Amino acid sequence: MTDALDTRYVAARRMLEEAGQAHVLYFWDQLKDEQKTNLLDQIASVDWPEVSRLVKTHVLGKPAFTLPGSIEPSPYYANQPGKGQKQKYQKARKLGEKLIGEGKVAAFTVAGGQGTRLGWNGPKGSYPATPIRKLPLFACMAEYIRKTEQKYQAVVPCYIMTSPINDAATRQFFEQHGYFGLKAENVMMFPQQMMPAFDAVTGKALLESPDTLAMAPNGHGGSLKALFASGAIADMQQRGIEQISYTQVDNPIVKVVDPQFIGLHAMDECQMSSKMLPKAYPKEKLGVFCLVDGKLAVIEYSNLPDDMAEQRDAEGKLRFIAGSIAIHVLRVDFVRDLNTRPGGFALPWNRADKKVACFDLQTRSMVEPKSPNAVKLETFVFDALPLCDKTIVYETDRVQEFAPIKNADAPGTPGAVDCPRTSMDGQTLRAALWLEAQGVKVPRTADGRIDAVIEISPMTAIEADDLKGVDLPEAIDPGTEVLL
Ligand code: UTP
Repeated sequence: MTDALDTRYVAARRMLEEAGQAHVLYFWDQLKDEQKTNLLDQIASVDWPEVSRLVKTHVLGKPAFTLPGSIEPSPYYANQPGKGQKQKYQKARKLGEKLIGEGKVAAFTVAGGQGTRLGWNGPKGSYPATPIRKLPLFACMAEYIRKTEQKYQAVVPCYIMTSPINDAATRQFFEQHGYFGLKAENVMMFPQQMMPAFDAVTGKALLESPDTLAMAPNGHGGSLKALFASGAIADMQQRGIEQISYTQVDNPIVKVVDPQFIGLHAMDECQMSSKMLPKAYPKEKLGVFCLVDGKLAVIEYSNLPDDMAEQRDAEGKLRFIAGSIAIHVLRVDFVRDLNTRPGGFALPWNRADKKVACFDLQTRSMVEPKSPNAVKLETFVFDALPLCDKTIVYETDRVQEFAPIKNADAPGTPGAVDCPRTSMDGQTLRAALWLEAQGVKVPRTADGRIDAVIEISPMTAIEADDLKGVDLPEAIDPGTEVLL
């Protein structure tokens, strides 16, 4: 062993011992120098004193949630302007369009997740998502951006957060497909940070192999540090970008850049704003936007007491109705300022119980767990909301903007949600509504479902009005596939 390795080993061992994690070096004597270097690099990327604290609070213990003293439903801008709001909405939309047209808005998608529920072999963004062309999720986003660039005669740079696990595959996917028509110089990818995964019973960091820790991405909250650390914020500032339109990779109908939302956010001089989806029923699994001691925050659905979740107003509408679907706009200088504050910033950690394949020290073999054996630690981007002085919530519409792909298809399973099948049905339904608004006759089954498969490319339309002036059929034949 070289002197340098030896010195690093001694320092790493001391740090791991203090954190109660010295087993990470269990196979040290059997490793080649190259493996030792890799393991030491991985160890050096982890904040072990913080790990030691988090193992106690979040792995061996479950952090208790204390209901804050004061929780009120968050106010929000309705999807469509109410009485007296029409002018404000129109002005906001114009402002949003102006910002896009002046090249001051960037698209940003978080694509560093592991997509374990979907079980797709590759980055989730490479999943074929649309009903006819089977366009990958990344391509849906790219087409949306290209159409926006055409409409507003501007460049909309695209930033993608990957993870060390899928970064190379994501880059390769874009290169193989010619960046889906985007200019390579306007696409920037950067990996987020990772955290070790821990044995749920012992709190010990799991190994993936004798020389590798089992690591997992640190949650989409990691984007707020990764944007800065990667140089993406500096790149945005150099390009004159002011606003970041934040979306998740797994929703093929998300408005990647929405002038109405960006305009309302900018007009109210907000640092970070959010879209909300009205919850369909009290216990729908969406975090809820609330005012906690006067500050906007998202309370996880599991933490909202049943009696509060079920409260209704005088009109029978859920009081705590504003569900969080992870669509935000953030000011570039807000993200910069978070990262340059004295002492930095920290988002709270959350525990996720997951199945993690790991290398067993005793049997020296891989273990493929059948039920959750591990704890992953993640931060959430919405936990930056309480750090804002000004923020708004804007309502969106489920059919128009929410058809996520989270789970694998489960044919024959009634009530399957958020899977490719339901997403494709959702895409067809939205396309049908857009066509009907232009007077096209769309066939429906007796129970009201669309009796056709319809895909509208974002290059044709990213909103219903874009179909005006497009050559459309008068009617769609039942049972056919229609691509526009
Ligand atoms: P989800 O948690 O819903 O999806 O993340 P996932 O992580 O891809 O899949 P599961 O939970 O393992 O089944 C929502 C969005 O946040 C991104 C995901 O890529 C997705 O776009 N994300 C999540 C990150 O970028 N990094 C993370 O650490 C976690």
